[in-house]
Amino acid sequence: MNAKENLKIAVIGGDGTGPEVTAEALKVLAAAAELDGFGFSTQDFPFGGEHYLKTGEILPDGAVDELRAFDAIYLGAVGHPDVAPGILEKGLLLELRFKLDQYINLRPVKLYPGVETPLAGKRPEDVDFVVVRENTEDLYCGVGGFLKKGTADEVATQSAVYTRKGCERCIRWAFEYTQRRNNPKGKRLTLVAKTNVLTYGHDLWWRTYQEVAKDYPDVEADYNHVDACCMWMVKNPEYYDVIVTTNMFGDIITDLGAMVQGGMGVAAGGNMNPDPGGVSMYEPMGGSAPKYTGQGVINPIAAIGAMSMLLEHTGQEASGSRILKAIQEVTGNKMESQAAGRMGYSTSEVGDLVVAAMHA
Ligand code: IPM
Ligand code: MN
Repeated sequence: MNAKENLKIAVIGGDGTGPEVTAEALKVLAAAAELDGFGFSTQDFPFGGEHYLKTGEILPDGAVDELRAFDAIYLGAVGHPDVAPGILEKGLLLELRFKLDQYINLRPVKLYPGVETPLAGKRPEDVDFVVVRENTEDLYCGVGGFLKKGTADEVATQSAVYTRKGCERCIRWAFEYTQRRNNPKGKRLTLVAKTNVLTYGHDLWWRTYQEVAKDYPDVEADYNHVDACCMWMVKNPEYYDVIVTTNMFGDIITDLGAMVQGGMGVAAGGNMNPDPGGVSMYEPMGGSAPKYTGQGVINPIAAIGAMSMLLEHTGQEASGSRILKAIQEVTGNKMESQAAGRMGYSTSEVGDLVVAAMHA
């Protein structure tokens, strides 16, 4: 997207600690706008578990159309202990993904300096890859049903839906992204799937991948089965540059990625519609962590990382990398730990440290 003079950002702070980490991301946004000379406006939306319990409303009629008018959406966290699992996921997160056709789920897996990884002996230069997850198809379409429900003869089906258009646009974007990322160690895109077992759906992915790869001869078109990928991510994460994968496998391997990069306190992601006029949503991966609400102990680094991604992909690349650099300064030289309550600083002090590092 071309640089805009005035970014219009919709903000869903959400539940629990969501608003606290969102406040730090907005603090960093204000500093970036001042330093890099762009304007922005934000509009708050109250959606989430708290709002649902009060009003019975998840996304009111017209809300999605209202959100379409923004350049990007920033989401803190949604999730409430009194809301049954599945309600907000389906009614809010997946609803926005589908309605706004956010067909890319982008998840950088980057070990920042000073951050502890459970992988013995791995350093920041060893853990630095990006997962491009297809975000609108597969088992997430909700195609299936029950037969003889509740009886001893019950049958349940849940079908994975893959389309040529759906896999092609994701694969093509992943090749383009790999080119742009321009890894000095070599540009490698690894398709992660299970072609040896899913001989219809992943055959479509495989054939499409082979075809699209011809347009990107400078990118090594690599392939891993998903089970082997889990093994290599732990044993040899330095192997990966960019991974492209299906929705369900992507969901699973990005949680593994979040742990490899030091946990939910640092992992961020984007649900993106990269088409002209598309509206994307950026979020820290961690949940609403209700038990820490209001204590000022939750780690805002993931939330700040999500803001860095938002700016990088909304025409403010310089601000995106400025924030990313500042984050690494703070994790490397200031914070004691990435765990809630053990950072050596409060939530808002960590935000202040990032802003200070941005000025350096
Ligand atoms: C994610 C989450 C969602 C998913 C849930 C909350 C529906 O786990 O963004 O990875 O499964 O995609
Ligand atoms: Mn997930």
